[in-house]
Amino acid sequence: MNLAIVGAGYVGLVTGVCFAAKGHRVVATDKNLDKIKSLQAGKIPIYEPGLEDLLKEVVRAKKISFTEDLGEAVRAADVVFLCVDTPPQENGMADLSSVESASRQIAKHLAGYKVIVEKSTVPVKTGERVGRTLEKYCPAGVSFDVVSNPEFLREGAAVQDALNPDRIVVGTQSEKARQVMRELYAGYAAPILFTDIKSAEMIKHAANAFLAMKISFVNAVAQICELAGADISQVAQGIGLDKRIGSSFLNAGIGYGGSCFPKDVDAFARIAQELGYPFRLLSEVQEINRFQRQHFIRKIEDELWVVKDKEVGILGIAFKPDTDDIREAPFLTIAEALMNKGAKIRAYDPKAAENARKLLPSVRYVETPYAAAEGADCLVIVTEWKEFKDLDLARIQKSMAHPTVIDGRNLFPPERMKELGFVYRSVGR
Ligand code: UGA
Repeated sequence: MNLAIVGAGYVGLVTGVCFAAKGHRVVATDKNLDKIKSLQAGKIPIYEPGLEDLLKEVVRAKKISFTEDLGEAVRAADVVFLCVDTPPQENGMADLSSVESASRQIAKHLAGYKVIVEKSTVPVKTGERVGRTLEKYCPAGVSFDVVSNPEFLREGAAVQDALNPDRIVVGTQSEKARQVMRELYAGYAAPILFTDIKSAEMIKHAANAFLAMKISFVNAVAQICELAGADISQVAQGIGLDKRIGSSFLNAGIGYGGSCFPKDVDAFARIAQELGYPFRLLSEVQEINRFQRQHFIRKIEDELWVVKDKEVGILGIAFKPDTDDIREAPFLTIAEALMNKGAKIRAYDPKAAENARKLLPSVRYVETPYAAAEGADCLVIVTEWKEFKDLDLARIQKSMAHPTVIDGRNLFPPERMKELGFVYRSVGR
């Protein structure tokens, strides 16, 4: 099928490249012309495992191209994907101005029958608005259907998730659009769940809010474990073995970050409030998340006693492993809080240092984890990159001014750290 991707950001790019890999012909467009130029030159603006190689493959196979001309992309397409950004406004509601303006522009280029797919994460009832906008601005006599087809990919595993999703949700009332979407996803093993548009939009927000709730729940239990002297890893394993609960997303740590959970939980709470339901559970999910981070900072401060002039090494900058994304990354809050109290910070991350340098230039960004630890009064683990698990801990222990590790991701068994001679504090253990 011929597909247009409007908005070549994280979701748009992964969606376009993966549909191209499944054999569809994709034309992607973006209002950011520099981005389009660099994509035309084969350069990817983000780090995502497997994406660059797959892009090269589908470019070579002529399955994907990039254009500055939205009209060109839309005119050639059977299905148009709206993948534009929906950033939070000051009041926490999603800013839908890009969705609105992209819908207006798409409308102008509609001809014959097309399916317009909402991929961006949007509050419930946005599809209705998109439909009305298309109706208003499209030429007379054209026909189209709006479909909500939310994206569930995780950063760091995006290609894998887009090619092999757990489920495909398609929200539409139109049988004709359903048929088009069946054809689009014919090469996928996942079950397709057909719903109405509003329910599909709600599934996305509810899924992310539920996962965030799971994380906050386990983080709250971790706090109680610390107070009671229990071990959250054992507790999480014990509850996760119940099939109704499930073991994933029960890792206690320093709270969720990234571009999705913080924004989506907030937006879901706001839209619920606007519709007349005060979803207080979500406010508490957010509060626990904030507390978890602050509590972790207090733990570091407590260990250092006087923070001023202490050398603190930080391992991990990205909000999670296998990405260079630092949006809502705990690193930013932690490094800033410690620097405000006079600590000297050096940080190491395999991928995200360049992004962080722009926001926190006074941090010293070092080239290896060992350089972060050397001579430090304290080493803080913020992101669970795999390479941190394989570190030579004895070497680190010897190189530090004082061998203290504060671990926000519970990477190591406490007994082992003790045997190695570390003062070791982790979360909920
Ligand atoms: C999340 C969802 O998992 C995706 O399904 C969804 O498509 C995406 O948001 C989105 O809306 O676009 P993502 O933000 O990439 O994906 O990353 P996750 O793996 O979900 O992690 C989110 C945060 O939760 C990270 O800060 C991570 O460290 C934290 N987390 C996750 C925990 O603290 N504990 C856990 O057990 C799991």
